[in-house]
Amino acid sequence: MDYKNILYSAENGIATITINRPKALNALNTETVSELRDLVGKIAADSEIKVVVITGSGSKSFVAGADIVEMSTKNAVEGRAFGKIGQDTFTEIENMPQPVIAAINGFALGGGCELSCACDIRYASENAKFGQPEVGLGITPGFGGTQRLPRVVGRGYGKELIFTAGMIDAQEAYRIGLVNKVVPQEELMDTVYALAKKIAKNAPIAVQLSKAAINRGINCDVITGIAYEDEVFGLCFATEDQKEGMGAFVEKRKATFTGK
Ligand code: CAA
Repeated sequence: MDYKNILYSAENGIATITINRPKALNALNTETVSELRDLVGKIAADSEIKVVVITGSGSKSFVAGADIVEMSTKNAVEGRAFGKIGQDTFTEIENMPQPVIAAINGFALGGGCELSCACDIRYASENAKFGQPEVGLGITPGFGGTQRLPRVVGRGYGKELIFTAGMIDAQEAYRIGLVNKVVPQEELMDTVYALAKKIAKNAPIAVQLSKAAINRGINCDVITGIAYEDEVFGLCFATEDQKEGMGAFVEKRKATFTGK
Protein backbone atom coordinates (compact mmCIF):
# COMPACT_ATOMS: atom_id res chain seq x y z
CA MET A 1 0.00 0.00 0.00
CA ASP A 2 1.26 3.46 -0.92
CA TYR A 3 0.74 5.96 1.86
CA LYS A 4 -0.30 9.51 1.12
CA ASN A 5 -0.11 10.95 4.62
CA ILE A 6 2.46 8.76 6.34
CA LEU A 7 6.20 8.33 5.94
CA TYR A 8 7.92 5.12 6.94
CA SER A 9 11.54 4.20 7.41
CA ALA A 10 13.42 1.45 9.24
CA GLU A 11 17.07 1.15 10.19
CA ASN A 12 18.88 -1.29 12.48
CA GLY A 13 15.62 -2.72 13.79
CA ILE A 14 14.13 0.69 14.62
CA ALA A 15 11.05 1.72 12.63
CA THR A 16 9.93 5.32 12.32
CA ILE A 17 6.36 6.31 11.46
CA THR A 18 5.92 9.99 10.62
CA ILE A 19 2.43 11.45 10.35
CA ASN A 20 2.83 13.71 7.35
CA ARG A 21 0.04 16.23 6.75
CA PRO A 22 1.98 19.36 7.68
CA LYS A 23 -0.53 21.75 6.07
CA ALA A 24 -3.16 20.52 8.54
CA LEU A 25 -0.64 20.25 11.42
CA ASN A 26 -0.71 16.46 10.91
CA ALA A 27 -4.40 16.21 11.82
CA LEU A 28 -5.80 12.70 11.52
CA ASN A 29 -8.44 12.30 8.83
CA THR A 30 -9.96 8.91 7.94
CA GLU A 31 -7.39 8.31 5.22
CA THR A 32 -4.46 8.95 7.56
CA VAL A 33 -5.86 6.76 10.34
CA SER A 34 -6.49 3.95 7.82
CA GLU A 35 -2.95 4.22 6.51
CA LEU A 36 -1.60 4.20 10.05
CA ARG A 37 -3.58 1.08 10.87
CA ASP A 38 -2.34 -0.72 7.77
CA LEU A 39 1.28 0.15 8.53
CA VAL A 40 1.01 -0.75 12.22
CA GLY A 41 -0.28 -4.22 11.26
CA LYS A 42 2.67 -4.75 8.94
CA ILE A 43 5.26 -3.58 11.49
CA ALA A 44 3.69 -5.72 14.22
CA ALA A 45 4.26 -8.79 12.04
CA ASP A 46 7.86 -7.86 11.17
CA SER A 47 10.27 -9.69 13.48
CA GLU A 48 13.17 -7.54 12.24
CA ILE A 49 11.65 -4.49 13.94
CA LYS A 50 12.58 -4.22 17.62
CA VAL A 51 11.34 -0.71 18.47
CA VAL A 52 8.88 1.69 16.86
CA VAL A 53 9.04 5.50 16.94
CA ILE A 54 6.02 7.65 16.08
CA THR A 55 6.44 11.35 15.34
CA GLY A 56 4.93 14.18 13.30
CA SER A 57 6.46 15.96 10.32
CA GLY A 58 7.76 19.51 10.67
CA SER A 59 8.75 21.41 13.78
CA LYS A 60 5.34 22.68 14.87
CA SER A 61 3.06 19.73 15.42
CA PHE A 62 3.07 16.08 16.44
CA VAL A 63 -0.63 15.64 15.68
CA ALA A 64 -3.13 18.51 16.17
CA GLY A 65 -5.99 16.07 16.69
CA ALA A 66 -8.59 14.37 14.58
CA ASP A 67 -9.48 16.33 11.44
CA ILE A 68 -12.10 18.85 12.52
CA VAL A 69 -12.95 19.86 8.94
CA GLU A 70 -13.80 16.26 8.09
CA MET A 71 -15.70 15.71 11.35
CA SER A 72 -17.70 18.94 11.06
CA THR A 73 -20.25 17.45 8.64
CA LYS A 74 -20.61 14.01 10.21
CA ASN A 75 -23.88 12.77 11.74
CA ALA A 76 -24.03 10.54 14.83
CA VAL A 77 -23.59 7.29 12.92
CA GLU A 78 -20.66 8.60 10.89
CA GLY A 79 -19.08 10.23 13.93
CA ARG A 80 -19.22 6.99 15.86
CA ALA A 81 -17.76 5.04 12.93
CA PHE A 82 -14.89 7.55 12.73
CA GLY A 83 -14.26 7.17 16.47
CA LYS A 84 -14.20 3.39 16.11
CA ILE A 85 -11.51 3.49 13.40
CA GLY A 86 -9.35 5.68 15.64
CA GLN A 87 -10.02 3.61 18.77
CA ASP A 88 -9.22 0.32 17.02
CA THR A 89 -6.07 1.74 15.44
CA PHE A 90 -4.75 3.14 18.72
CA THR A 91 -5.54 -0.12 20.52
CA GLU A 92 -3.50 -1.92 17.85
CA ILE A 93 -0.64 0.49 18.52
CA GLU A 94 -0.91 -0.09 22.27
CA ASN A 95 -0.82 -3.84 21.66
CA MET A 96 2.00 -3.93 19.12
CA PRO A 97 4.51 -6.50 20.31
CA GLN A 98 7.35 -4.00 19.99
CA PRO A 99 7.78 -1.05 22.37
CA VAL A 100 6.48 2.16 20.79
CA ILE A 101 8.01 5.56 21.61
CA ALA A 102 6.17 8.81 20.86
CA ALA A 103 8.57 11.58 19.82
CA ILE A 104 6.32 14.57 20.43
CA ASN A 105 7.67 17.43 18.36
CA GLY A 106 4.95 20.05 18.85
CA PHE A 107 1.16 20.13 19.30
CA ALA A 108 -0.27 16.91 20.72
CA LEU A 109 -3.93 17.85 20.93
CA GLY A 110 -7.05 15.70 21.02
CA GLY A 111 -6.28 12.66 18.88
CA GLY A 112 -2.58 13.63 19.05
CA CYS A 113 -2.49 13.45 22.84
CA GLU A 114 -4.50 10.23 22.58
CA LEU A 115 -2.04 8.79 20.06
CA SER A 116 0.84 9.57 22.42
CA CYS A 117 -1.00 7.87 25.29
CA ALA A 118 -1.35 4.70 23.19
CA CYS A 119 2.45 4.61 22.94
CA ASP A 120 4.58 3.01 25.66
CA ILE A 121 6.97 5.91 26.29
CA ARG A 122 6.61 9.64 25.54
CA TYR A 123 9.51 12.06 24.99
CA ALA A 124 8.72 15.68 24.09
CA SER A 125 10.46 18.69 22.63
CA GLU A 126 10.41 21.94 24.66
CA ASN A 127 7.84 23.50 22.30
CA ALA A 128 5.35 20.62 22.66
CA LYS A 129 1.84 21.45 23.86
CA PHE A 130 -0.68 18.95 25.14
CA GLY A 131 -4.43 19.06 25.57
CA GLN A 132 -7.82 17.51 24.96
CA PRO A 133 -9.81 20.36 23.33
CA GLU A 134 -12.81 18.16 22.45
CA VAL A 135 -15.41 19.51 24.91
CA GLY A 136 -14.74 22.95 23.43
CA LEU A 137 -15.85 21.49 20.09
CA GLY A 138 -18.98 19.87 21.50
CA ILE A 139 -17.65 16.31 21.60
CA THR A 140 -15.86 14.02 24.03
CA PRO A 141 -12.38 12.65 23.34
CA GLY A 142 -12.99 9.81 20.91
CA PHE A 143 -9.73 7.99 20.21
CA GLY A 144 -9.30 6.55 23.71
CA GLY A 145 -8.61 9.78 25.63
CA THR A 146 -11.21 9.28 28.36
CA GLN A 147 -9.58 5.95 29.19
CA ARG A 148 -5.84 6.16 28.54
CA LEU A 149 -5.07 9.72 29.67
CA PRO A 150 -6.39 9.19 33.24
CA ARG A 151 -4.46 5.93 33.37
CA VAL A 152 -1.26 7.77 32.42
CA VAL A 153 -1.55 10.91 34.59
CA GLY A 154 -4.15 9.87 37.17
CA ARG A 155 -7.83 10.72 37.14
CA GLY A 156 -7.43 14.20 38.70
CA TYR A 157 -5.11 15.63 36.04
CA GLY A 158 -6.85 13.60 33.32
CA LYS A 159 -10.24 15.05 34.20
CA GLU A 160 -8.85 18.58 34.51
CA LEU A 161 -7.31 18.36 31.03
CA ILE A 162 -10.47 16.93 29.49
CA PHE A 163 -13.03 19.17 31.31
CA THR A 164 -11.14 22.44 30.70
CA ALA A 165 -10.16 21.75 27.07
CA GLY A 166 -7.02 23.69 28.02
CA MET A 167 -3.43 23.28 26.89
CA ILE A 168 -0.34 22.55 28.97
CA ASP A 169 3.28 23.00 27.97
CA ALA A 170 5.96 20.32 27.90
CA GLN A 171 7.30 21.13 31.38
CA GLU A 172 3.85 20.78 32.92
CA ALA A 173 3.36 17.55 30.95
CA TYR A 174 6.63 16.33 32.47
CA ARG A 175 5.57 17.40 35.97
CA ILE A 176 2.32 15.40 35.80
CA GLY A 177 3.99 12.34 34.29
CA LEU A 178 2.52 12.65 30.81
CA VAL A 179 6.01 12.62 29.28
CA ASN A 180 9.18 10.96 30.55
CA LYS A 181 11.63 13.56 29.20
CA VAL A 182 11.70 17.04 27.67
CA VAL A 183 14.57 18.10 25.40
CA PRO A 184 15.29 20.97 22.99
CA GLN A 185 13.56 20.37 19.65
CA GLU A 186 16.84 19.82 17.76
CA GLU A 187 17.82 17.05 20.20
CA LEU A 188 14.48 15.21 20.21
CA MET A 189 15.05 12.58 17.53
CA ASP A 190 18.65 11.81 18.62
CA THR A 191 17.46 11.41 22.22
CA VAL A 192 14.59 9.17 21.15
CA TYR A 193 16.83 7.05 18.92
CA ALA A 194 19.35 6.68 21.77
CA LEU A 195 16.51 5.32 23.91
CA ALA A 196 15.31 3.07 21.07
CA LYS A 197 18.84 1.66 20.59
CA LYS A 198 19.17 0.98 24.31
CA ILE A 199 15.93 -1.03 24.19
CA ALA A 200 16.78 -2.73 20.88
CA LYS A 201 20.03 -4.22 22.20
CA ASN A 202 18.18 -6.29 24.80
CA ALA A 203 16.61 -9.71 24.25
CA PRO A 204 13.63 -8.98 21.94
CA ILE A 205 11.35 -11.73 23.20
CA ALA A 206 11.98 -10.72 26.82
CA VAL A 207 11.25 -7.06 26.00
CA GLN A 208 8.05 -7.99 24.17
CA LEU A 209 6.85 -10.36 26.88
CA SER A 210 7.57 -7.67 29.50
CA LYS A 211 5.38 -5.25 27.53
CA ALA A 212 2.61 -7.83 27.17
CA ALA A 213 2.68 -8.64 30.89
CA ILE A 214 2.57 -4.94 31.87
CA ASN A 215 -0.26 -4.17 29.43
CA ARG A 216 -2.32 -7.20 30.41
CA GLY A 217 -1.73 -6.79 34.13
CA ILE A 218 -2.20 -3.04 34.48
CA ASN A 219 -5.98 -3.22 34.12
CA CYS A 220 -6.57 -6.06 36.55
CA ASP A 221 -5.84 -6.94 40.16
CA VAL A 222 -2.25 -7.64 41.14
CA ILE A 223 -2.75 -11.39 41.70
CA THR A 224 -4.07 -11.84 38.13
CA GLY A 225 -1.22 -9.66 36.90
CA ILE A 226 1.35 -11.76 38.70
CA ALA A 227 -0.15 -14.85 37.03
CA TYR A 228 0.63 -13.23 33.64
CA GLU A 229 4.15 -12.56 34.81
CA ASP A 230 4.46 -16.17 35.94
CA GLU A 231 3.56 -17.31 32.40
CA VAL A 232 5.97 -15.03 30.56
CA PHE A 233 8.83 -15.53 33.01
CA GLY A 234 8.66 -19.29 32.52
CA LEU A 235 8.41 -18.89 28.76
CA CYS A 236 11.68 -16.94 28.64
CA PHE A 237 13.56 -20.03 29.82
CA ALA A 238 12.55 -21.75 26.59
CA THR A 239 14.37 -19.12 24.50
CA GLU A 240 17.91 -19.20 23.12
CA ASP A 241 18.29 -15.62 24.29
CA GLN A 242 17.91 -16.66 27.94
CA LYS A 243 20.76 -19.15 27.48
CA GLU A 244 22.82 -16.51 25.70
CA GLY A 245 22.09 -13.69 28.19
CA MET A 246 22.88 -15.73 31.28
CA GLY A 247 25.73 -17.61 29.59
CA ALA A 248 27.34 -14.30 28.66
CA PHE A 249 27.08 -13.09 32.25
CA VAL A 250 28.66 -16.26 33.61
CA GLU A 251 31.41 -16.16 30.97
CA LYS A 252 31.97 -12.42 31.56
CA ARG A 253 31.33 -11.43 27.94
CA LYS A 254 28.76 -9.31 26.07
CA ALA A 255 25.56 -11.09 25.07
CA THR A 256 24.48 -11.24 21.43
CA PHE A 257 20.76 -11.75 21.16
CA THR A 258 19.07 -13.30 18.12
CA GLY A 259 15.41 -12.99 19.12
CA LYS A 260 15.02 -16.75 19.29
N1 CAA B 1 -8.22 19.39 12.03
C1 CAA B 1 -8.17 19.94 10.79
N2 CAA B 1 -7.33 20.95 10.46
C2 CAA B 1 -6.51 21.40 11.42
C3 CAA B 1 -6.50 20.87 12.73
C4 CAA B 1 -7.40 19.81 13.02
N3 CAA B 1 -7.44 19.19 14.21
N4 CAA B 1 -5.59 21.55 13.46
C5 CAA B 1 -5.05 22.47 12.64
N5 CAA B 1 -5.60 22.39 11.41
C6 CAA B 1 -5.30 23.21 10.22
C7 CAA B 1 -5.93 24.58 10.34
O1 CAA B 1 -7.28 24.55 9.96
C8 CAA B 1 -5.06 25.37 9.38
O2 CAA B 1 -5.46 25.09 8.07
P1 CAA B 1 -5.58 26.29 6.98
O3 CAA B 1 -4.16 26.79 6.85
O4 CAA B 1 -6.08 25.59 5.76
O5 CAA B 1 -6.48 27.30 7.57
C9 CAA B 1 -3.68 24.74 9.57
O6 CAA B 1 -3.91 23.47 10.17
C10 CAA B 1 -2.79 25.55 10.50
O7 CAA B 1 -3.49 25.73 11.72
P2 CAA B 1 -3.70 27.18 12.41
O8 CAA B 1 -3.67 28.26 11.37
O9 CAA B 1 -4.88 27.10 13.29
O10 CAA B 1 -2.34 27.27 13.26
P3 CAA B 1 -2.12 28.05 14.62
O11 CAA B 1 -0.66 28.01 14.89
O12 CAA B 1 -2.79 29.37 14.59
O13 CAA B 1 -2.88 27.16 15.74
C11 CAA B 1 -3.50 25.11 16.84
C12 CAA B 1 -2.43 25.87 16.02
C13 CAA B 1 -3.61 25.75 18.23
C14 CAA B 1 -3.03 23.68 16.97
C15 CAA B 1 -4.86 25.20 16.12
O14 CAA B 1 -4.68 24.80 14.77
C16 CAA B 1 -5.92 24.33 16.70
O15 CAA B 1 -6.50 24.68 17.72
N6 CAA B 1 -6.21 23.15 16.07
C17 CAA B 1 -7.25 22.28 16.50
C18 CAA B 1 -6.82 21.47 17.70
C19 CAA B 1 -7.96 20.61 18.20
O16 CAA B 1 -9.00 21.10 18.60
N7 CAA B 1 -7.76 19.28 18.19
C20 CAA B 1 -8.73 18.34 18.64
C21 CAA B 1 -9.54 17.83 17.50
S1 CAA B 1 -10.93 16.87 18.03
C22 CAA B 1 -10.31 15.32 18.28
O17 CAA B 1 -9.13 15.07 18.21
C23 CAA B 1 -11.36 14.28 18.60
C24 CAA B 1 -10.86 12.98 19.05
O18 CAA B 1 -10.64 12.74 20.21
C25 CAA B 1 -10.68 11.92 18.09
